[in-house]
Amino acid sequence: MTRAVDVVVIGAGAAGLSAALGLAATRQVLVLSAGDGSTPWAQGGVSVAFGDDDPLDHAHDTHVAGAGFCDPRNVRALVEEGPQRVAELIAHGALFDRREDGSLSRTLEGGHSHPRIVHAGGDATGAEVDRALRAAVRAAGVETMAGRVIGLTKSTSGRVSGVLVETGGETVRIDARAVVLATGGIGNAYLASTNPSAVRGDGIALALLAGASLVDMEFVQFHPTALFTGQTRGQLPLVTEAVRGEGAVLRDLRGRLIMAGRHPRADLAPRDIVAREIEAAMRRDGTDHVWLDARSIEPDVLRRRFPTVLASCASIGVDMLSEQIPVAPAEHFLCGGVQVDRDGATGVPGLYAVGEVAASGVHGANRLASNSLLEGLVFGRRVATALTLDLPATTDRSYDVVLTEDREPERIRAILTKYAGIRRDGAGLNAAADELSALGNGPLATVARSVIVAATAREESRGCHWRSDHPHTDDRWNEHVAIGLDEEGLP
Ligand code: SIN
Repeated sequence: MTRAVDVVVIGAGAAGLSAALGLAATRQVLVLSAGDGSTPWAQGGVSVAFGDDDPLDHAHDTHVAGAGFCDPRNVRALVEEGPQRVAELIAHGALFDRREDGSLSRTLEGGHSHPRIVHAGGDATGAEVDRALRAAVRAAGVETMAGRVIGLTKSTSGRVSGVLVETGGETVRIDARAVVLATGGIGNAYLASTNPSAVRGDGIALALLAGASLVDMEFVQFHPTALFTGQTRGQLPLVTEAVRGEGAVLRDLRGRLIMAGRHPRADLAPRDIVAREIEAAMRRDGTDHVWLDARSIEPDVLRRRFPTVLASCASIGVDMLSEQIPVAPAEHFLCGGVQVDRDGATGVPGLYAVGEVAASGVHGANRLASNSLLEGLVFGRRVATALTLDLPATTDRSYDVVLTEDREPERIRAILTKYAGIRRDGAGLNAAADELSALGNGPLATVARSVIVAATAREESRGCHWRSDHPHTDDRWNEHVAIGLDEEGLP
């Protein structure tokens, strides 16, 4: 079966839905979704500067968290366009939490100099953003389809001209004038992650196959506080940073404060720093978790602000009102990805990328908390604007680039988890490259290899890339590691 639309958006998270919504009035759009993405699981909120806060301060915090590796023009777009995008979301019906006087409730998270995180349902912000965007997209008449994209079509001129999608037991070809990758991160390339299992980096592999470049793949962010359930596989529940924003502190298993004296902002230091300190405490003490102590927060505040965390804790028999919460870092977010310009163009004509799959440059070497939903809203709209202004007519369909199945996905996950976690070193990265060499070039293997190649190349520590054999930031590394496919089709 073959059909044609103007634009195919692959992925139905905040970025994909924002792009679709922005295009709905001018283009025929089809949104493809392979399952739950990360958006509905986001807890903390959306960081946005307004009122007594200044977008320039938000930009400053973003640059500091990003270890000086962010793209200043794109960060400016993020912080300056953010308030308008959030206002539109509210106009579409998103219900953010408000104070008694009707003003938006705003909280703090790691790395923020100002309480600028707006949230919904206490700690269920992603679910509300997802609900409001889906309703708006439906109301705008955008078609959505469940299915996994297994390949892209290219024209004789090299333009991406459609997708191949597996849906309802058949493979469907959809011609399009542009394809937007909004497939999220790479959580499922690790054994455990805060991402749902459908988030496995297909967009990264598709982009490489189509001829795009990746950049900053070594910057994989580990959230400091996933709930320690004893489970070491699959999706782990998050304990939002906002719990620390409200006053919770991290302790090692002997009760000592982990972040005291480690950073001027202590428990609210940027995420890479907190994750590293927790990892060091666990290694020092030979433990597999630490404690998050939220008992100083008023029970009413905990119940109102953190119903999701409260329920996750209860599911493992922990009462966070009276007991400490067992937590450990877990893979959470890819700061790099497909190299794009400010409007999501990848350099391959007809192929765009937006949201976590894209390296928009706003996260640098470490994303600032609650900038990810904002990125989806802002850059989703930017891609839509670009494709409204300029969308060449359909070209011919000449050949397909198709993903191959992964051999031994669990082994690939184990390798990436072992060698490209919070702490890396050259010997481990070389071992990872050797072990991966026999594991084919399916999407997970491609993602894993890309992370390993980039992490091996960057012989310094910066942001969330920490090399124990090169523990300092080195100015000679003030450049990005870009990756393409070699003649054997490997990153
Ligand atoms: C959190 O709520 O701690 C996660 C938010 C984010 O990833 O920015």
